[in-house]
Amino acid sequence: MALQVELIPTGEIIRVVHPYRPCKLALGSDGVRVTMESALTARDRVGVQDFVLLENFTSEAAFIENLRRRFRENLIYTYIGPVLVSVNPYRDLQIYSRQHMERYRGVSFYEVPPHLFAVADTVYRALRTERRDQAVMISGESGAGKTEATKRLLQFYAETCPAPERGGAVRDRLLQSNPVLEAFGNAKTLRNDNSSRFGKYMDVQFDFKGAPVGGHILSYLLEKSRVVHQNHGERNFHIFYQLLEGGEEETLRRLGLERSPQSYLYLVKGQCAKVSSINDKNDWKVVRKALSVINFTEDEVEDLLSIVASVLHLGNLHFAADEESNAQVTSENQFKYLTRLLGVDGATFREALTHRKIIAKGEELLSPLNLEQAAYARDALAKAVYSRTFTWLVGKINRSLASKDAQSPSWRSTTVLGLLDIYGFEVFQNNSFEQFCINYCNEKLQQLFIELTLKSEQEEYEAEGIAWEPVQYFNNKIICDLVEEKFKGIISILDEECLRPGEATDLTFLEKLEDTIKHHPHFLTHKLADQRTRKSLGRGEFRLLHYAGEVTYSVTGFLDKNNDLLFRNLKETMCSSENPIMSQCFDRSELSDKKRPETVATQFKMSLLQLVEILQSKEPAYIRCIKPNDAKQPGRFDEVLIRHQVKYLGLMENLRVRRAGFAYRRKYEAFLQRYKSLCPETWPTWAGRPQDGVAVLVRHLGYKPEEYKMGRTKIFIRFPKTLFATEDALEVRRQSLATQIQASWRGCHWRQKFLRVKRSAICIQSWWRGTLGRRKAAKRKWAAQTIRRLIRGFILRHAPRCPENAFFLDHVRTSFLLNLRRQLPRNVLDTSWPTPPPALREASELLRELCRRNMVWKYCRSISPEWKQQLHQKAVASEIFKGKKDNYPQSVPRLFISTRLGADEISSKVLQALGTEPIQYAVPVVKYDRKGYKPRPRQLLLTPNAVVIVEDAKVKQRIEYPNLTGISVSSLSDSLFVLHVQREDNKQKGDVVLQSDHVIETLTKMALSADRVNNININQGSITYAGGPGRDGIIDFTPGSELLITKAKNGHLAVVAPRLNSR
Ligand SMILES: Nc1ncnc2c1ncn2[C@@H]1O[C@H](COP(=O)(O)OP(=O)(O)O)[C@@H](O)[C@H]1O
Ligand SMILES: [Mg+2]
Repeated sequence: MALQVELIPTGEIIRVVHPYRPCKLALGSDGVRVTMESALTARDRVGVQDFVLLENFTSEAAFIENLRRRFRENLIYTYIGPVLVSVNPYRDLQIYSRQHMERYRGVSFYEVPPHLFAVADTVYRALRTERRDQAVMISGESGAGKTEATKRLLQFYAETCPAPERGGAVRDRLLQSNPVLEAFGNAKTLRNDNSSRFGKYMDVQFDFKGAPVGGHILSYLLEKSRVVHQNHGERNFHIFYQLLEGGEEETLRRLGLERSPQSYLYLVKGQCAKVSSINDKNDWKVVRKALSVINFTEDEVEDLLSIVASVLHLGNLHFAADEESNAQVTSENQFKYLTRLLGVDGATFREALTHRKIIAKGEELLSPLNLEQAAYARDALAKAVYSRTFTWLVGKINRSLASKDAQSPSWRSTTVLGLLDIYGFEVFQNNSFEQFCINYCNEKLQQLFIELTLKSEQEEYEAEGIAWEPVQYFNNKIICDLVEEKFKGIISILDEECLRPGEATDLTFLEKLEDTIKHHPHFLTHKLADQRTRKSLGRGEFRLLHYAGEVTYSVTGFLDKNNDLLFRNLKETMCSSENPIMSQCFDRSELSDKKRPETVATQFKMSLLQLVEILQSKEPAYIRCIKPNDAKQPGRFDEVLIRHQVKYLGLMENLRVRRAGFAYRRKYEAFLQRYKSLCPETWPTWAGRPQDGVAVLVRHLGYKPEEYKMGRTKIFIRFPKTLFATEDALEVRRQSLATQIQASWRGCHWRQKFLRVKRSAICIQSWWRGTLGRRKAAKRKWAAQTIRRLIRGFILRHAPRCPENAFFLDHVRTSFLLNLRRQLPRNVLDTSWPTPPPALREASELLRELCRRNMVWKYCRSISPEWKQQLHQKAVASEIFKGKKDNYPQSVPRLFISTRLGADEISSKVLQALGTEPIQYAVPVVKYDRKGYKPRPRQLLLTPNAVVIVEDAKVKQRIEYPNLTGISVSSLSDSLFVLHVQREDNKQKGDVVLQSDHVIETLTKMALSADRVNNININQGSITYAGGPGRDGIIDFTPGSELLITKAKNGHLAVVAPRLNSR
């Protein structure tokens, strides 16, 4: 994997930028390091962004100077280690946009400039990776920016966390619960135009994927006295003004309200109904929309507004005294609206407003109220109605935020992120019971802060045996005890005074305090004070030296407010209210409950104890808010005010502990478990003690000795950067581990796939081979059967046809016929013919005959008439001479010629003498005299009627065919022949002895012309012929070596002829 390495001009540090991860790693010579400042711009480097880096960390002046320098540049956030210090800028700095959220997501705390979102993200990641519940505690005095911070945090989570699979509306509801609660629970005070007049602790539930799936709100002690009275310059709760400003005409008419806040006595006490920084009309719209998001039906909204309006009407309800100075309701119009809006019976209500019901000895007594008492009862009712409605509202919001999956098993895997936005420390001109409670609450939270940071930190070092220089800090436990201790605590004394029979007043309560806790160093009254301080204390006042400063409380109203008295008959009336919200707020069981209800202070104390328990069970994160000036002005840095806050928030102590101590500590097991993958010796498992494993691990990571210490059960890491370097190394390592896991998984996956494919291939192969094998086997079987059948058939081939030999016989036949087709004779003379099987012998013969005929027929069709004649003559010659005359075979290949003499060779006289008689054939011959056997050349002509012998131009002899009785030749190879002539014809000179070179041809033609084919005699030895009247001649033929024709001594003609053919 390629890493891009960059040198940063801070010197030793090299920045290594991971190509796929925005994380910046630094590999210095001493191992892995984080460049904390790498992402800072020059502007962000104003002062130090973590007080821990302050050179002079013990100097308050240096601390405040750093705050001032940063504040001047609008850098409102600075760290003390993990604690975020925030200074209220009183102006919109545009630093909460979506881009800002993205910038702070998933990056190390120290890599980016300090920001609320960095805390938000760190907390969220801790929640997800460690699966521990978290709590963000936002503290600071009123107007320091706590509520604002809470809203920004919620917004961050709502916008950056993944949406839950179901119930995505939870995110909207979480966000929209805010404007509603603010409308009903916030008010303008001197300190803050949007001061929360109740404490709020909000749990956001996240599922295992980190998506918000639900929420729950705990509210603490609403300052209900504000409903009926406001100090100068303050307002009642926002909702009243919002309704009057923004409510539609129709709504106001229904509620019987006028638009002007000036018309309502409950709204004019502070004389500042209009505030420039607040736009009630707009806020009204926001609230109306939010109500519908958090599941309010139109009816519920109407019921709710009826209650709000009824409070205003109550404020305007006047009484007049009758003769007996008993109070009577005089504002009938208001009364009418009240009965309608609250849904109560007019008569009962009227009576309840002007009478008090007392139960004495089981009897109910109605005692009329005087004017003062009636006004008191009315105000008590207004406060009760409003505060109970507020509680109902919180319940209603909780129902809409409750996760729908709360019953499912996966619910157990959810983690909780708590946001605590509780009223800050308050000091007014006139401080009452409410301020007492609020400041007590702040004491408690400060105590918790000390517990969780300073004290526990120091105790831990001791327990772990880490060398440590103790840091002095002010532990405010003493003040908490002063307020809450049993019997001796202010609350106990107050409760006691409230319950005491007899005339208990606020002043008797003060006396009691003076008696009981007069020696307490943090408690002072007019009586207890020395001369000098006494001046600043009124007689009805007591002063507490809170951790955050002195506050003088006026005891007036303490008892009343603590008792929270609402006359029984008013309660009863409200219990029967037809307004559904009211009937839920006032429960009948309350009436029958004989037990005295807990006092307000005790209830508050209990709820705070519970809150502390809740917070202790979670991993804390702190946001310490500072208010720069009392005038709510941007850019003004009131040093005195700020120094005061820095002091009481314990920021200096916090810083000193931080500097002296270690930024991070972890149980060896947990540390090893988290980082063991970074060292080959500890990965994947470490067999020895976790402590030894950690030692090996940190040595491998290159921790320097000053960077860490090994305690008894934990490792302590001094600087955050050391840890962040380790974290980043882990992040890189995780990537590679993930890659390894991916690789092996992929390997496994593909291997399985491969094996599957292989199995399939083998299956297909074997199937195919099987098929091929079966086919081959079938073929072989068939072949074997065929061969067997053939053999069997062959053995039985001579037997009559039967199933066993039928196949063979058929095969033989077929092959014979097929063979025959290929081997048919080519021509008539080709006598070859395949030998047929016995069964086909007859058919073969027939076929052979057919074939032969066919060939003959074809041959015949192809011969010309001349050739036909030739063949005819040859056939006749064959008939006559074949096997009889020795020179016949020699004549066969020589063609017979139509005539041996052309017309020009025959004398014209002869032709003349023949007249019309055509010459069919002419050949030169030799005539031997009958006596002397002298050879004489002659021409022999054949006509259709006679043989004509011609000597030059003279016809010497004409033998008519009827007179030609026979023709004789020898069987030898000579060419002599004798024409036998009819003797009776005198004109005939006797038989004629002739010799022709073409004796076979000549005699054949003559035999044909004279129709004497059967009259040719072939003689052995000699021929006798008639040589003239009474005289016969004889010709003797003898075979010899060469042809010799001579006259023998015996007068015979002796012919010696060579033997041509051996016989
Ligand atoms: N981060 C901030 N940026 C801008 N203005 C702020 C910021 N924090 C607080 N303010 C201003 O200060 C006022 C008081 O803040 P708030 O959160 O209501 O105080 P607290 O809840 O601590 O009493 C707000 O109404 C707002 O005008
Ligand atoms: Mg607030």
